[in-house]
Amino acid sequence: MKALVTTDDGDTGLRLDPVADPEPRAGQALVAVSAVGVNRGDLSILGQLPPGSRLGWDVAGTVIRAAPDGSGPARGTRVLGLADRDGWAERVALGTGRLARLPDSLDWQSAAALPVAGLTALYALQRAGRLVGRTVLVTGAGGGVGRAAVQLASAAGAKVIAWVGSPERAQGLAALGADHVATYGEDPREPVDILLDSCGGEVLTSAFETVTAGGSVVCYGNTARADLRLPRDWGHARPGVSLHAVALFDEVTRRDVAHDLAFLVQLVTEGRLDPQVARVVDWTDPAPVLRDLAERRLNGKAVLAL
Ligand SMILES: NC(=O)c1ccc[n+]([C@@H]2O[C@H](COP(=O)([O-])OP(=O)(O)OC[C@H]3O[C@@H](n4cnc5c(N)ncnc54)[C@H](OP(=O)(O)O)[C@@H]3O)[C@@H](O)[C@H]2O)c1
Repeated sequence: MKALVTTDDGDTGLRLDPVADPEPRAGQALVAVSAVGVNRGDLSILGQLPPGSRLGWDVAGTVIRAAPDGSGPARGTRVLGLADRDGWAERVALGTGRLARLPDSLDWQSAAALPVAGLTALYALQRAGRLVGRTVLVTGAGGGVGRAAVQLASAAGAKVIAWVGSPERAQGLAALGADHVATYGEDPREPVDILLDSCGGEVLTSAFETVTAGGSVVCYGNTARADLRLPRDWGHARPGVSLHAVALFDEVTRRDVAHDLAFLVQLVTEGRLDPQVARVVDWTDPAPVLRDLAERRLNGKAVLAL
């Protein structure tokens, strides 16, 4: 079969190469892949992996061989799942604890946009605590995880302030449930109970100033790749503030991922969560979408269709 593998030549650092077929373990189903998601995390590690390495966590496709231990869906079932960084391939072995069934109404591209962004937003918000009636500031709100977080927080009864880098990145956020959309550093209009930050750097520093006493700060990214800095009176000025870091592949070791993926799918089918697919390209030429993602031009998720 073929897979996208890292290479040290070419402008994307990726090449479609023949690779060995996956050998599913007892609790893994073999899935024929129809679409895969691209995450900023893929871009971050792309240049760091040795040539010949595999990538890809977000997968949507069809089970072509059920798991040998009898767990999970039967052959022929449409699924989405979280792969072990080997999903950008024609076939992948997916742990049945990390996949969920897809209804026929959900297209491959929308499904492939969900796992990493949806689970990260869900787990970051759950870490923040109670949401109903509270004000949540989401930074990087125009991106993949940010757009999922805006929707989930709003659906859970929070007042949502979406912070973006430019007005262009704000497109559609009000319709997704943001009560107020502003650019970084602009007044969020009110103190916030919960800060969900993925930007790091100066954005985190200024966003932190808006957090009220007893609030929660959840950091799940550092897109700016800068040292994180908080004001020197960070705790005294906000008694009871709590700081959290969320890493998806740490969370999944303790979570019922299959249940949580099924929950995200249900929200989508009920019209309460839009996967926000911004651009789909054929996987044989991922360059345009990788460039758009790297240059902050996508208002949502990038997807590769097989
Ligand atoms: N903890 C985890 O396990 C986990 C899981 C998923 C993602 N992440 C991390 O969370 C972050 C968001 O992921 P994503 O998939 O939503 O990425 P994305 O779709 O690329 O969105 C990132 C957003 O960050 C904003 N941004 C702020 N400063 C930036 C900078 N210096 N360079 C580029 N963009 C910048 C961009 O919006 P503006 O242009 O509006 O500023 C962009 O919308 C990434 O850092 C990612 O690695 C972590």
